Parts: sequence; C-alpha cells; structure tokens
Amino acid sequence: REMEARGVIEAGNCAFVLVAGGLGERLGYSGIKLSLPVDLSSNGVSFLELYVTYILELQRRALAGGSGEESKGNVKRLPLAIMTSDDTHDRTVALLRDHAFFGMDEDQVIFMKQEKVACLADGNASLAMEDPFTVQTKPHGHGDVHMLLHTMGLADKWRREGFKWVCFFQDTNAQVFHGLLPALGVSAVNDYDMNSLAVPRKAKEAIGAITRLRRPDGSSITINVEYNQLDPLLRATCNPDGDVNDPVTGHSPFPGNINQLVMKLESYCDELHRHGGVISEFVNPKYADETRTAFKKSTRLECMMQDFPKSLPTGSKVAFTMIRPVHAAYSPVKNSVSEAQAKAAGGNPQHSAASGEFDVYQANCEMLQRVGCRVDVAREKRTFHGMSYVVWPRVSWSPRFALTFEDLEEKIIAPDRVHIGCESSLYIGRDVRVDRLELPRGRLVLDAQGDEGG
Ligand code: UTP
Repeated sequence: REMEARGVIEAGNCAFVLVAGGLGERLGYSGIKLSLPVDLSSNGVSFLELYVTYILELQRRALAGGSGEESKGNVKRLPLAIMTSDDTHDRTVALLRDHAFFGMDEDQVIFMKQEKVACLADGNASLAMEDPFTVQTKPHGHGDVHMLLHTMGLADKWRREGFKWVCFFQDTNAQVFHGLLPALGVSAVNDYDMNSLAVPRKAKEAIGAITRLRRPDGSSITINVEYNQLDPLLRATCNPDGDVNDPVTGHSPFPGNINQLVMKLESYCDELHRHGGVISEFVNPKYADETRTAFKKSTRLECMMQDFPKSLPTGSKVAFTMIRPVHAAYSPVKNSVSEAQAKAAGGNPQHSAASGEFDVYQANCEMLQRVGCRVDVAREKRTFHGMSYVVWPRVSWSPRFALTFEDLEEKIIAPDRVHIGCESSLYIGRDVRVDRLELPRGRLVLDAQGDEGG
C-alpha cells in the first residue's frame, strides 16, 4: 500500500507507452485487441478506454495534489504514446477518433508506427515471397518501441519537459495498473534504472523468466530469459535438473516476466543516445522436420523490449517487482478458445477472454474482502468450453472510483454494511461513495452525474 501510494504520486511525472502493433494471431479476433471489452460488467468499456481512463485519473490526481501554479492552467498532461503497425494503425486511430479520444486531448496521444520486416523461407535465409514480385513481411516484435521513441525524439522531449519515468505496457491486460503503480513506487524509492513487473512462475511455465546471468569476467546482468531457453541454460550451468520448483514456495526461483516495464527516463535517454534504441535481434523458426532446413511457415528477425538492459552500462540498477497473486496484476487476453484449451491441457494459464474477465472479477472481489466487505463466492466451479472457473460476483469499477486500496477504504464508508451475493453483478462508475449496500443477486450500476459524486 505504501508503494502504491508513492506510485500514484510518481505517476504525475510519468509518460506511458502502449505497445499495440501485434498481429494477435493466437487470439484470432478480426478487430484490434485494444477494442475488445474488458469485461461484461463494465458495459463494453474497451481495453483502450480503460487505459486512457487510468491515465486521466492519475493526471487528475497529480493536478489536485500539485502546486498552485499548475492549477492555473500550467498542468502537465501525461502523454500516452501508442506503438502501432500496419496491422493495427488505422483501426487504433479510428477507435480513438470515434470516441473523442476517450476524454484525452488529441495531441496528448502520440502514434508511433513500426515497420514490418522481410520474411525468410528456409535455413539459408532465402526471402519468402507473396508472389514473384512481393516480399512477404511480418512484425519485427515489440523491441522496436525503443528505437521509435529515440528517432521520433519523444523520450528526449519528455525528459526536457521534466518527466521522470516511462512505463511500458501491453494491449490486453486489464490488471496492469494494479501492478504498475506499486512498481513505480518501488522504482522511486530505490532509484531503479529499469524495473520489470514479475509474477510467481511455476517451473517450465510458458512465460519468460527474470534471471541474473553472470559473465565470465564476473560482471552480471538482470535479464529476461525466454522459457524455452531457461531449462537448457540452467542444465548447462548451475542446475542439472533444469527449471524446477522450489520445495518451499512451490514456484520456480525465477519469477515470470510480464513485460510491464518502468524505466527511469534519465538513464533511459542516455542509453538511447549510446545505442540508438537498437535491440539485438533473434530468430525463432519452427522447423518442418529433423533436417532443420525447411520451416513450417516463414519466419523473420524479431526483437523484444525486455532485452533493453543487455547494453546498459555495468552498475545500472536493473530490478524486478513481484506481484502476488498473479491475477492481481496479470491476466492478458491472448488466446482463442481452442488455443486456451490447449494451454489449459498443458497446465499453463489460459490467457483467454474468459480467464481475463473472471480474473478482473476475482481480483476486485478480493480487494473488497480485504477492506472488510462481505463478498460471497460460488462453491462450485462452472465449465465453459471444457474449461472450469470459480465464478466470483461480477464486480468491476472505473479507475475514477478507485485506483488503490486506500481509495477503496475511503470510498466504502462502512464495509461491514456491504454484502455482495455470488449471483450478482456490480459496476461502480464515477466518484461514488458507498455507505451501505445489500446486493444478494441481480445487477446494479452505481454512477454519479456530477464531478463530486453522489
Ligand atoms: P503478444 O505476445 O501478445 O503478441 O505481444 P501478438 O503479436 O500481439 O499476438 P500473437 O503472437 O500474434 O498471437 C505482446 C505485446 O506486444 C505488442 C502486442 O500488441 C502486445 O501488446 N507487439 C507485439 C507489438 O507492439 N509489436 C509486435 O511486433 C509484436
């Protein structure tokens, strides 16, 4: 809670960067992922609207807590830069235009379009062709974001304007700000150059792991290692058993990287000037057979934003902040129903639309319970598409109602007089205060008309 409160203050000096150029092949949705509704309870609020509302609320708090000079109109608006690609650009711009930028000023949002790169057809790196005259292209990975922030002069501009932090996040994680705010607090208190959000990770789980790698010269680097490389790396170096759970915690000693990053702007800009924001590339072909020459489908060089610390000078403060439980900070919507079924069968998190939605409800209900409200939960799991879930009451709220635990405590005046039954659905909109609430079942929307709430 202390870190969260500090994070809200630091957020007043933060620029936000959303990477949203991905194809979303695994989800198989025909639109852009940012346009998907976060959950049914909030009546169609999209991921993009949710993110914008969080940032505007943080901006409002910064203004409310700022100096008199700021409130005279000299307000620092918190910038939102969105990385798009040819696959997502037009539809992302249209989504914002159609909704009046969800309340943000138009020039507060900056678009950065990444280019696609040529595809390779085989182990000899022959170019893959669409037709005899057109080279096939695919996205180059979210690592492009650093070069774009550098070449467009954005990072430098933010630094000149007095911003202190840059937060990076992804297209479909409704829980992201629950993790980013405390991580910002942790970064500020410890003066970290880079801070990655992490969650507990089961051994061999298909999520990148945060590790500390020691070089032969004794220096070390804190960095993400992709899950398919972690086990062989551990076997070849420090543990012949590879990636195994710690018997005490039941989790791998290497936390899961959820690719939500907090960078200190000063050291971030210095590094961009040293290397131009170029991130080392990798290639990950899926081979057609054991001869390892032909590919199942064309591949390309890619780069990842979490590889940024690879070239940071020795002595840089690179850290991670672990959030527990996982669903409190991370539950992305990445997989179609069939992909999610396969993940679940392999013991991996589903990362589907359903798990994303149910995790929002669970996390919100658990927060309410923590502040003292009575929230019932159904005893029996329910099965949808062959996957079973504990279904909590469908509770969600706007960031304008509560950003933090402290807000909940303030807004829920008498938690012992609040009861939410397991077959109910509750949405809380603007600055509402709850004195007493008995919601055994059914649907309730609480919203206030004025700025002051009601
Ligand atoms: P994902 O891992 O979700 O990949 O990307 P994806 O490309 O969107 O989806 P699949 O793999 O095709 O199913 C993580 C984040 O990085 C962004 C995505 O938009 C998402 O927010 N991303 C990914 C980019 O901005 N550019 C890229 O080239 C790739």
